[in-house]
Amino acid sequence: MMPPRLTRRSFLAAGAALAAPYVVPASVLGAAAPSNRITLGCIGTGNQGVNDMRGFLQNEDAQVVAVCDVNTGSYGYKTAEQFLGRDPARGIVDSFYGGRSPSGRYRGCGAYTDFREVLARPDVDAVVIVVPDHWHAVMATMAARAGKDIYCEKPLSLTVADGRAMVEAVRRSGIILQAGSHERSHRQTRFACELVRNGRIGRLKRIQAVVGPWNKTGPTGAWTPTAVPEGFDYEMWLGPAPWAPYHKDRCLYNFRFILDYSGGQTTNYGAHSLDIAQWGNDTEHTGPVEVEDAGAEFPRDGLFTAPTVVHFKARYANGVELECITRDDNVACRFEGTQGWVEIGYKGFFTDPPSLKTSVIGAGEIQLYESNDHYRNFLDCVKSRREPAAPVEVAHRSATLCHLGNIAMILKRKLRWDPDREEFPGDDEANRMLARGKRAPWHV
Ligand SMILES: NC(=O)c1ccc[n+]([C@@H]2O[C@H](COP(=O)([O-])OP(=O)(O)OC[C@H]3O[C@@H](n4cnc5c(N)ncnc54)[C@H](O)[C@@H]3O)[C@@H](O)[C@H]2O)c1
Repeated sequence: MMPPRLTRRSFLAAGAALAAPYVVPASVLGAAAPSNRITLGCIGTGNQGVNDMRGFLQNEDAQVVAVCDVNTGSYGYKTAEQFLGRDPARGIVDSFYGGRSPSGRYRGCGAYTDFREVLARPDVDAVVIVVPDHWHAVMATMAARAGKDIYCEKPLSLTVADGRAMVEAVRRSGIILQAGSHERSHRQTRFACELVRNGRIGRLKRIQAVVGPWNKTGPTGAWTPTAVPEGFDYEMWLGPAPWAPYHKDRCLYNFRFILDYSGGQTTNYGAHSLDIAQWGNDTEHTGPVEVEDAGAEFPRDGLFTAPTVVHFKARYANGVELECITRDDNVACRFEGTQGWVEIGYKGFFTDPPSLKTSVIGAGEIQLYESNDHYRNFLDCVKSRREPAAPVEVAHRSATLCHLGNIAMILKRKLRWDPDREEFPGDDEANRMLARGKRAPWHV
Protein backbone atom coordinates (compact mmCIF):
# COMPACT_ATOMS: atom_id res chain seq x y z
CA MET A 1 0.00 0.00 0.00
CA MET A 2 1.18 3.55 -0.83
CA PRO A 3 0.87 5.94 2.10
CA PRO A 4 -2.15 8.12 1.37
CA ARG A 5 -0.23 11.40 0.89
CA LEU A 6 2.51 9.91 -1.26
CA THR A 7 1.78 11.31 -4.70
CA ARG A 8 3.01 9.97 -8.01
CA ARG A 9 5.52 12.86 -8.05
CA SER A 10 7.03 12.10 -4.62
CA PHE A 11 6.93 8.37 -5.34
CA LEU A 12 8.96 9.00 -8.51
CA ALA A 13 11.44 11.14 -6.61
CA ALA A 14 11.85 8.44 -3.96
CA GLY A 15 12.13 5.84 -6.70
CA ALA A 16 14.87 7.83 -8.44
CA ALA A 17 16.85 8.01 -5.20
CA LEU A 18 16.65 4.22 -4.90
CA ALA A 19 17.58 3.85 -8.59
CA ALA A 20 14.17 2.32 -9.24
CA PRO A 21 12.57 2.66 -12.69
CA TYR A 22 10.82 5.99 -13.42
CA VAL A 23 7.47 4.53 -14.35
CA VAL A 24 5.40 3.26 -11.49
CA PRO A 25 4.36 -0.18 -12.66
CA ALA A 26 0.66 -0.57 -13.23
CA SER A 27 0.89 -3.72 -11.15
CA VAL A 28 1.77 -1.58 -8.12
CA LEU A 29 -0.91 1.05 -8.43
CA GLY A 30 -3.33 -0.03 -11.13
CA ALA A 31 -3.09 1.53 -14.59
CA ALA A 32 -5.47 4.41 -13.90
CA ALA A 33 -5.02 4.62 -10.14
CA PRO A 34 -5.02 8.30 -9.14
CA SER A 35 -1.41 8.23 -7.97
CA ASN A 36 -0.31 6.69 -11.28
CA ARG A 37 -1.75 9.57 -13.27
CA ILE A 38 0.18 12.61 -14.41
CA THR A 39 -1.46 15.51 -12.63
CA LEU A 40 -1.82 18.69 -14.66
CA GLY A 41 -2.38 22.34 -13.87
CA CYS A 42 -3.80 24.24 -16.86
CA ILE A 43 -2.65 27.87 -16.78
CA GLY A 44 -4.58 30.05 -19.23
CA THR A 45 -7.98 28.69 -20.19
CA GLY A 46 -8.94 30.87 -23.14
CA ASN A 47 -9.23 30.04 -26.82
CA GLN A 48 -6.40 27.49 -27.08
CA GLY A 49 -6.13 26.70 -23.37
CA VAL A 50 -9.49 24.96 -23.40
CA ASN A 51 -8.55 23.07 -26.60
CA ASP A 52 -5.34 21.84 -25.02
CA MET A 53 -7.13 20.97 -21.77
CA ARG A 54 -9.75 18.94 -23.64
CA GLY A 55 -6.92 17.17 -25.48
CA PHE A 56 -5.33 16.14 -22.17
CA LEU A 57 -8.68 15.11 -20.68
CA GLN A 58 -8.88 12.38 -23.33
CA ASN A 59 -5.87 10.64 -21.82
CA GLU A 60 -6.69 8.17 -19.04
CA ASP A 61 -3.28 8.51 -17.45
CA ALA A 62 -3.57 12.29 -17.01
CA GLN A 63 -5.71 14.19 -14.58
CA VAL A 64 -6.37 17.92 -14.67
CA VAL A 65 -6.29 18.90 -11.00
CA ALA A 66 -6.06 22.69 -11.34
CA VAL A 67 -7.14 25.41 -13.74
CA CYS A 68 -5.89 28.98 -13.57
CA ASP A 69 -6.95 32.13 -15.38
CA VAL A 70 -7.04 35.82 -14.55
CA ASN A 71 -10.46 36.00 -16.17
CA THR A 72 -13.28 34.50 -14.11
CA GLY A 73 -15.21 33.94 -17.31
CA SER A 74 -16.50 36.08 -20.17
CA TYR A 75 -17.54 36.26 -23.78
CA GLY A 76 -15.35 37.98 -26.32
CA TYR A 77 -12.47 35.72 -27.25
CA LYS A 78 -11.66 34.68 -30.84
CA THR A 79 -15.37 34.84 -31.55
CA ALA A 80 -17.94 36.89 -29.66
CA GLU A 81 -19.85 33.68 -28.79
CA GLN A 82 -17.00 31.91 -27.01
CA PHE A 83 -17.53 31.94 -23.24
CA LEU A 84 -14.17 31.09 -21.68
CA GLY A 85 -12.03 31.64 -18.61
CA ARG A 86 -11.45 30.04 -15.22
CA ASP A 87 -15.00 29.11 -14.18
CA PRO A 88 -16.04 27.66 -17.56
CA ALA A 89 -12.81 25.62 -17.59
CA ARG A 90 -13.41 24.31 -14.11
CA GLY A 91 -16.96 23.44 -15.20
CA ILE A 92 -15.64 21.40 -18.14
CA VAL A 93 -13.18 19.50 -15.94
CA ASP A 94 -15.66 18.84 -13.14
CA SER A 95 -18.40 17.61 -15.42
CA PHE A 96 -15.91 15.39 -17.28
CA TYR A 97 -14.57 13.66 -14.16
CA GLY A 98 -17.79 13.99 -12.17
CA GLY A 99 -19.67 12.22 -14.94
CA ARG A 100 -17.18 9.36 -14.78
CA SER A 101 -17.44 9.02 -11.03
CA PRO A 102 -21.07 8.23 -10.28
CA SER A 103 -20.01 7.19 -6.75
CA GLY A 104 -19.55 10.91 -6.02
CA ARG A 105 -15.96 10.39 -4.87
CA TYR A 106 -14.58 12.98 -7.29
CA ARG A 107 -13.47 15.98 -5.20
CA GLY A 108 -13.37 18.71 -7.88
CA CYS A 109 -10.62 20.60 -9.61
CA GLY A 110 -8.85 23.58 -8.03
CA ALA A 111 -9.36 27.00 -9.65
CA TYR A 112 -6.81 29.82 -9.28
CA THR A 113 -6.19 33.39 -10.40
CA ASP A 114 -2.49 33.35 -9.50
CA PHE A 115 -0.41 30.70 -11.29
CA ARG A 116 2.13 30.73 -8.42
CA GLU A 117 -0.43 28.86 -6.33
CA VAL A 118 -0.53 26.13 -8.96
CA LEU A 119 3.26 25.93 -9.02
CA ALA A 120 3.28 25.68 -5.22
CA ARG A 121 1.08 22.56 -5.24
CA PRO A 122 3.35 19.56 -4.67
CA ASP A 123 0.75 17.24 -6.19
CA VAL A 124 0.94 18.96 -9.62
CA ASP A 125 3.35 17.08 -11.89
CA ALA A 126 3.14 19.27 -14.98
CA VAL A 127 1.71 22.58 -16.13
CA VAL A 128 0.07 23.46 -19.44
CA ILE A 129 0.96 27.10 -20.18
CA VAL A 130 -1.49 28.67 -22.65
CA VAL A 131 -1.31 32.36 -21.85
CA PRO A 132 -0.30 35.29 -24.09
CA ASP A 133 3.30 35.10 -25.29
CA HIS A 134 4.62 37.87 -23.00
CA TRP A 135 4.07 35.52 -20.05
CA HIS A 136 5.64 32.34 -21.46
CA ALA A 137 9.22 32.86 -20.31
CA VAL A 138 8.37 34.05 -16.80
CA MET A 139 5.92 31.22 -16.14
CA ALA A 140 8.03 28.52 -17.78
CA THR A 141 11.24 29.44 -15.95
CA MET A 142 9.36 29.57 -12.64
CA ALA A 143 7.69 26.23 -13.41
CA ALA A 144 11.06 24.70 -14.30
CA ARG A 145 12.52 25.93 -11.02
CA ALA A 146 9.55 24.36 -9.23
CA GLY A 147 10.38 21.06 -10.96
CA LYS A 148 7.20 20.91 -13.06
CA ASP A 149 7.23 19.43 -16.54
CA ILE A 150 5.78 21.87 -19.06
CA TYR A 151 3.57 21.86 -22.12
CA CYS A 152 4.05 25.45 -23.34
CA GLU A 153 2.14 26.87 -26.25
CA LYS A 154 3.92 28.27 -29.27
CA PRO A 155 5.53 30.66 -30.01
CA LEU A 156 7.91 29.66 -27.25
CA SER A 157 8.99 33.21 -26.44
CA LEU A 158 8.43 36.91 -26.89
CA THR A 159 12.13 37.64 -27.46
CA VAL A 160 15.30 35.75 -28.34
CA ALA A 161 16.72 36.40 -24.86
CA ASP A 162 13.59 35.00 -23.20
CA GLY A 163 13.81 31.85 -25.33
CA ARG A 164 17.44 31.29 -24.43
CA ALA A 165 16.60 31.73 -20.73
CA MET A 166 13.88 29.09 -21.12
CA VAL A 167 16.31 26.65 -22.74
CA GLU A 168 18.74 27.11 -19.88
CA ALA A 169 16.09 26.81 -17.17
CA VAL A 170 14.80 23.57 -18.70
CA ARG A 171 18.31 22.14 -19.00
CA ARG A 172 19.25 23.11 -15.46
CA SER A 173 16.19 21.58 -13.88
CA GLY A 174 16.05 18.49 -16.10
CA ILE A 175 12.35 18.88 -16.73
CA ILE A 176 10.51 17.97 -19.95
CA LEU A 177 9.18 20.84 -22.08
CA GLN A 178 6.99 20.24 -25.10
CA ALA A 179 6.20 23.32 -27.22
CA GLY A 180 2.76 23.53 -28.81
CA SER A 181 4.07 23.37 -32.41
CA HIS A 182 1.82 20.39 -33.01
CA GLU A 183 2.73 19.90 -36.68
CA ARG A 184 5.72 18.04 -35.22
CA SER A 185 3.19 15.31 -34.46
CA HIS A 186 1.62 15.25 -37.94
CA ARG A 187 2.54 12.25 -40.05
CA GLN A 188 2.44 14.13 -43.36
CA THR A 189 4.59 16.99 -42.14
CA ARG A 190 7.16 14.54 -40.86
CA PHE A 191 7.08 12.64 -44.18
CA ALA A 192 7.43 15.89 -46.18
CA CYS A 193 10.51 16.82 -44.15
CA GLU A 194 11.92 13.30 -44.53
CA LEU A 195 11.55 13.56 -48.32
CA VAL A 196 13.49 16.82 -48.27
CA ARG A 197 16.12 15.60 -45.84
CA ASN A 198 16.70 12.43 -47.87
CA GLY A 199 17.29 14.35 -51.11
CA ARG A 200 14.10 13.23 -52.93
CA ILE A 201 13.79 16.75 -54.42
CA GLY A 202 17.51 16.94 -55.14
CA ARG A 203 19.46 19.70 -53.43
CA LEU A 204 17.19 22.01 -51.42
CA LYS A 205 17.38 25.56 -52.83
CA ARG A 206 14.42 27.54 -51.60
CA ILE A 207 11.75 27.43 -48.89
CA GLN A 208 8.57 29.43 -48.80
CA ALA A 209 6.82 29.65 -45.43
CA VAL A 210 3.34 31.17 -45.42
CA VAL A 211 1.56 32.93 -42.58
CA GLY A 212 -2.20 33.37 -42.59
CA PRO A 213 -3.74 36.76 -43.40
CA TRP A 214 -6.47 36.44 -40.78
CA ASN A 215 -5.76 39.65 -38.93
CA LYS A 216 -8.36 41.44 -36.88
CA THR A 217 -8.81 45.20 -36.89
CA GLY A 218 -8.36 46.99 -33.59
CA PRO A 219 -9.30 50.50 -32.56
CA THR A 220 -7.61 53.02 -34.84
CA GLY A 221 -6.57 56.64 -34.33
CA ALA A 222 -6.77 58.08 -30.82
CA TRP A 223 -8.74 55.21 -29.28
CA THR A 224 -10.32 55.50 -25.84
CA PRO A 225 -9.56 53.09 -22.97
CA THR A 226 -12.50 51.17 -21.51
CA ALA A 227 -13.28 49.98 -17.98
CA VAL A 228 -11.71 46.75 -16.74
CA PRO A 229 -14.53 44.20 -16.51
CA GLU A 230 -15.45 42.72 -13.14
CA GLY A 231 -13.77 39.40 -12.55
CA PHE A 232 -10.75 40.23 -14.71
CA ASP A 233 -7.37 40.72 -12.98
CA TYR A 234 -5.88 43.12 -15.50
CA GLU A 235 -2.64 43.75 -13.53
CA MET A 236 -1.98 40.02 -13.59
CA TRP A 237 -2.86 39.86 -17.30
CA LEU A 238 -0.27 42.58 -18.05
CA GLY A 239 2.31 41.02 -15.70
CA PRO A 240 5.80 41.63 -17.13
CA ALA A 241 4.56 43.82 -20.02
CA PRO A 242 4.69 47.64 -19.85
CA TRP A 243 1.70 49.15 -18.08
CA ALA A 244 -0.99 50.33 -20.53
CA PRO A 245 -4.64 51.35 -20.16
CA TYR A 246 -7.22 48.61 -20.56
CA HIS A 247 -9.14 48.05 -23.74
CA LYS A 248 -10.97 44.82 -24.47
CA ASP A 249 -9.13 44.53 -27.79
CA ARG A 250 -5.79 44.54 -25.98
CA CYS A 251 -6.52 41.33 -24.15
CA LEU A 252 -8.49 38.24 -25.01
CA TYR A 253 -7.28 36.66 -28.25
CA ASN A 254 -6.33 40.00 -29.86
CA PHE A 255 -3.14 40.42 -27.81
CA ARG A 256 -1.40 38.65 -30.72
CA PHE A 257 -1.75 41.79 -32.86
CA ILE A 258 0.17 43.96 -30.37
CA LEU A 259 3.96 43.76 -30.26
CA ASP A 260 4.15 44.30 -26.49
CA TYR A 261 2.58 40.86 -26.01
CA SER A 262 3.29 38.88 -29.16
CA GLY A 263 4.82 39.04 -32.63
CA GLY A 264 1.68 39.17 -34.77
CA GLN A 265 1.12 36.55 -37.43
CA THR A 266 4.90 36.28 -37.88
CA THR A 267 5.08 34.39 -34.61
CA ASN A 268 1.48 33.16 -34.45
CA TYR A 269 1.61 31.21 -37.74
CA GLY A 270 5.37 31.37 -38.15
CA ALA A 271 5.77 29.18 -35.07
CA HIS A 272 4.17 26.49 -37.26
CA SER A 273 5.29 27.18 -40.84
CA LEU A 274 8.79 28.45 -40.02
CA ASP A 275 9.20 25.54 -37.62
CA ILE A 276 8.46 23.15 -40.51
CA ALA A 277 10.99 25.08 -42.61
CA GLN A 278 13.65 24.57 -39.94
CA TRP A 279 12.76 20.86 -39.69
CA GLY A 280 13.01 20.16 -43.41
CA ASN A 281 16.15 22.28 -43.77
CA ASP A 282 17.96 20.43 -40.97
CA THR A 283 18.59 23.75 -39.21
CA GLU A 284 16.58 23.03 -36.07
CA HIS A 285 19.52 23.78 -33.81
CA THR A 286 20.73 26.85 -35.62
CA GLY A 287 19.29 29.62 -37.79
CA PRO A 288 19.88 31.80 -40.83
CA VAL A 289 22.93 34.02 -41.30
CA GLU A 290 21.08 36.89 -42.98
CA VAL A 291 17.56 38.27 -42.77
CA GLU A 292 15.92 41.21 -44.57
CA ASP A 293 12.60 42.95 -44.97
CA ALA A 294 10.88 42.31 -48.29
CA GLY A 295 8.01 44.81 -48.09
CA ALA A 296 6.15 44.16 -44.82
CA GLU A 297 3.30 46.48 -43.86
CA PHE A 298 2.35 47.73 -40.41
CA PRO A 299 -0.76 49.52 -39.08
CA ARG A 300 -0.47 53.32 -39.45
CA ASP A 301 -1.91 54.07 -36.01
CA GLY A 302 -4.20 52.68 -33.33
CA LEU A 303 -3.87 49.93 -30.73
CA PHE A 304 -2.54 47.15 -32.96
CA THR A 305 1.14 47.31 -33.86
CA ALA A 306 2.07 43.95 -35.40
CA PRO A 307 2.62 43.64 -39.18
CA THR A 308 -0.55 43.37 -41.21
CA VAL A 309 1.46 41.98 -44.12
CA VAL A 310 4.43 39.80 -43.25
CA HIS A 311 7.17 39.62 -45.84
CA PHE A 312 10.82 38.89 -45.14
CA LYS A 313 13.64 36.83 -46.60
CA ALA A 314 16.47 34.94 -44.95
CA ARG A 315 19.53 33.04 -46.09
CA TYR A 316 21.15 30.05 -44.39
CA ALA A 317 24.83 29.08 -44.30
CA ASN A 318 23.93 26.02 -46.43
CA GLY A 319 22.85 28.41 -49.21
CA VAL A 320 19.10 27.81 -48.81
CA GLU A 321 16.94 30.90 -49.35
CA LEU A 322 13.82 31.32 -47.21
CA GLU A 323 10.89 33.61 -47.89
CA CYS A 324 8.14 34.18 -45.32
CA ILE A 325 5.00 35.82 -46.65
CA THR A 326 1.38 36.54 -45.75
CA ARG A 327 -0.98 34.71 -48.09
CA ASP A 328 -4.42 33.10 -47.95
CA ASP A 329 -3.26 29.82 -49.35
CA ASN A 330 -3.12 26.09 -48.89
CA VAL A 331 0.59 26.26 -48.38
CA ALA A 332 2.16 26.33 -44.95
CA CYS A 333 5.59 25.43 -46.20
CA ARG A 334 6.97 24.68 -49.67
CA PHE A 335 10.41 23.20 -50.26
CA GLU A 336 11.93 23.60 -53.73
CA GLY A 337 14.93 21.54 -54.80
CA THR A 338 16.93 20.96 -57.95
CA GLN A 339 14.71 17.98 -58.87
CA GLY A 340 11.22 18.80 -57.59
CA TRP A 341 9.22 20.29 -54.77
CA VAL A 342 7.23 19.29 -51.70
CA GLU A 343 4.39 21.37 -50.30
CA ILE A 344 2.77 20.81 -46.91
CA GLY A 345 -0.36 22.81 -46.38
CA TYR A 346 -3.61 23.36 -44.60
CA LYS A 347 -5.56 21.45 -47.26
CA GLY A 348 -3.11 18.67 -47.93
CA PHE A 349 0.23 17.54 -49.15
CA PHE A 350 1.49 17.90 -52.73
CA THR A 351 4.70 16.93 -54.48
CA ASP A 352 6.43 17.20 -57.81
CA PRO A 353 6.96 14.62 -59.14
CA PRO A 354 3.63 13.27 -57.78
CA SER A 355 5.22 9.85 -57.26
CA LEU A 356 7.09 11.25 -54.26
CA LYS A 357 3.87 10.95 -52.28
CA THR A 358 4.24 7.18 -52.21
CA SER A 359 8.00 7.12 -51.83
CA VAL A 360 9.19 4.89 -48.99
CA ILE A 361 11.80 6.12 -46.54
CA GLY A 362 14.15 3.15 -46.16
CA ALA A 363 15.60 1.80 -42.94
CA GLY A 364 19.04 3.22 -43.75
CA GLU A 365 17.71 6.71 -44.48
CA ILE A 366 17.05 9.71 -42.26
CA GLN A 367 13.97 9.00 -40.16
CA LEU A 368 12.68 11.94 -38.17
CA TYR A 369 11.21 11.83 -34.66
CA GLU A 370 7.91 10.00 -34.81
CA SER A 371 4.93 11.26 -32.87
CA ASN A 372 1.33 11.14 -34.01
CA ASP A 373 -0.36 12.83 -31.07
CA HIS A 374 1.26 15.88 -29.50
CA TYR A 375 -0.47 15.57 -26.10
CA ARG A 376 0.16 11.82 -25.89
CA ASN A 377 3.80 12.37 -26.80
CA PHE A 378 4.18 14.87 -23.96
CA LEU A 379 2.66 12.50 -21.39
CA ASP A 380 4.80 9.61 -22.64
CA CYS A 381 7.91 11.74 -22.34
CA VAL A 382 6.97 12.85 -18.83
CA LYS A 383 7.03 9.16 -17.93
CA SER A 384 10.06 8.06 -19.94
CA ARG A 385 12.07 11.32 -19.56
CA ARG A 386 12.79 11.05 -23.29
CA GLU A 387 13.05 14.25 -25.35
CA PRO A 388 9.61 15.20 -26.73
CA ALA A 389 8.66 15.93 -30.36
CA ALA A 390 8.95 19.73 -29.98
CA PRO A 391 11.71 20.23 -27.40
CA VAL A 392 12.70 23.56 -25.95
CA GLU A 393 15.87 24.25 -27.99
CA VAL A 394 14.13 23.44 -31.29
CA ALA A 395 11.16 25.64 -30.36
CA HIS A 396 13.54 28.40 -29.30
CA ARG A 397 15.30 28.32 -32.67
CA SER A 398 11.98 28.43 -34.56
CA ALA A 399 10.72 31.32 -32.42
CA THR A 400 14.07 33.06 -32.96
CA LEU A 401 13.59 32.87 -36.72
CA CYS A 402 10.18 34.55 -36.29
CA HIS A 403 11.69 37.26 -34.06
CA LEU A 404 14.52 37.89 -36.54
CA GLY A 405 11.90 38.38 -39.25
CA ASN A 406 10.03 40.91 -37.14
CA ILE A 407 13.21 42.80 -36.27
CA ALA A 408 14.23 42.99 -39.95
CA MET A 409 10.71 44.10 -40.97
CA ILE A 410 10.68 46.81 -38.29
CA LEU A 411 14.18 48.09 -39.11
CA LYS A 412 13.51 47.72 -42.86
CA ARG A 413 17.06 46.67 -43.67
CA LYS A 414 19.25 43.64 -44.21
CA LEU A 415 20.73 42.18 -41.01
CA ARG A 416 23.54 39.72 -40.51
CA TRP A 417 22.90 37.07 -37.83
CA ASP A 418 25.32 34.88 -35.95
CA PRO A 419 23.28 31.83 -34.88
CA ASP A 420 26.04 30.49 -32.61
CA ARG A 421 26.38 33.67 -30.59
CA GLU A 422 22.73 34.62 -31.09
CA GLU A 423 23.53 38.20 -31.99
CA PHE A 424 23.66 40.61 -34.94
CA PRO A 425 27.42 41.15 -35.37
CA GLY A 426 28.33 44.80 -34.76
CA ASP A 427 24.72 46.01 -34.93
CA ASP A 428 23.79 47.62 -31.62
CA GLU A 429 20.40 48.85 -32.79
CA ALA A 430 19.28 45.37 -33.83
CA ASN A 431 20.90 43.69 -30.81
CA ARG A 432 18.88 45.92 -28.46
CA MET A 433 15.74 44.32 -29.92
CA LEU A 434 16.71 40.82 -28.79
CA ALA A 435 15.56 41.42 -25.21
CA ARG A 436 13.02 43.57 -23.38
CA GLY A 437 12.76 44.83 -19.84
CA LYS A 438 10.12 43.29 -17.62
CA ARG A 439 7.87 45.09 -15.20
CA ALA A 440 8.76 44.25 -11.58
CA PRO A 441 8.53 41.88 -9.87
CA TRP A 442 8.62 39.66 -12.94
CA HIS A 443 11.87 38.35 -14.36
CA VAL A 444 13.30 35.20 -15.92
N1 LIG B 1 -0.86 25.51 -31.03
C1 LIG B 1 -1.78 26.21 -31.62
O1 LIG B 1 -2.24 25.88 -32.71
C2 LIG B 1 -2.30 27.47 -30.97
C3 LIG B 1 -3.54 28.01 -31.35
C4 LIG B 1 -3.98 29.19 -30.72
C5 LIG B 1 -3.21 29.80 -29.74
N2 LIG B 1 -2.00 29.26 -29.41
C6 LIG B 1 -1.15 29.92 -28.40
O2 LIG B 1 -1.79 29.86 -27.13
C7 LIG B 1 -1.48 31.02 -26.37
C8 LIG B 1 -2.79 31.65 -25.90
O3 LIG B 1 -3.53 32.06 -27.06
P1 LIG B 1 -5.12 32.10 -27.05
O4 LIG B 1 -5.59 32.25 -28.42
O5 LIG B 1 -5.62 30.94 -26.25
O6 LIG B 1 -5.37 33.46 -26.22
P2 LIG B 1 -6.63 33.85 -25.32
O7 LIG B 1 -6.54 35.29 -25.08
O8 LIG B 1 -7.86 33.30 -25.94
O9 LIG B 1 -6.39 33.03 -23.98
C9 LIG B 1 -5.34 33.34 -23.08
C10 LIG B 1 -5.89 33.17 -21.68
O10 LIG B 1 -4.81 33.40 -20.76
C11 LIG B 1 -5.33 34.13 -19.67
N3 LIG B 1 -4.23 34.79 -18.96
C12 LIG B 1 -3.53 35.90 -19.29
N4 LIG B 1 -2.60 36.15 -18.37
C13 LIG B 1 -2.71 35.19 -17.43
C14 LIG B 1 -2.01 34.91 -16.21
N5 LIG B 1 -1.05 35.71 -15.74
N6 LIG B 1 -2.39 33.82 -15.50
C15 LIG B 1 -3.40 33.01 -15.92
N7 LIG B 1 -4.09 33.25 -17.05
C16 LIG B 1 -3.74 34.32 -17.81
C17 LIG B 1 -6.31 35.09 -20.29
O11 LIG B 1 -7.21 35.63 -19.38
C18 LIG B 1 -6.97 34.21 -21.35
O12 LIG B 1 -8.12 33.56 -20.83
C19 LIG B 1 -0.65 31.93 -27.27
O13 LIG B 1 0.70 31.79 -26.96
C20 LIG B 1 -0.97 31.41 -28.66
O14 LIG B 1 0.07 31.62 -29.60
C21 LIG B 1 -1.55 28.11 -29.98
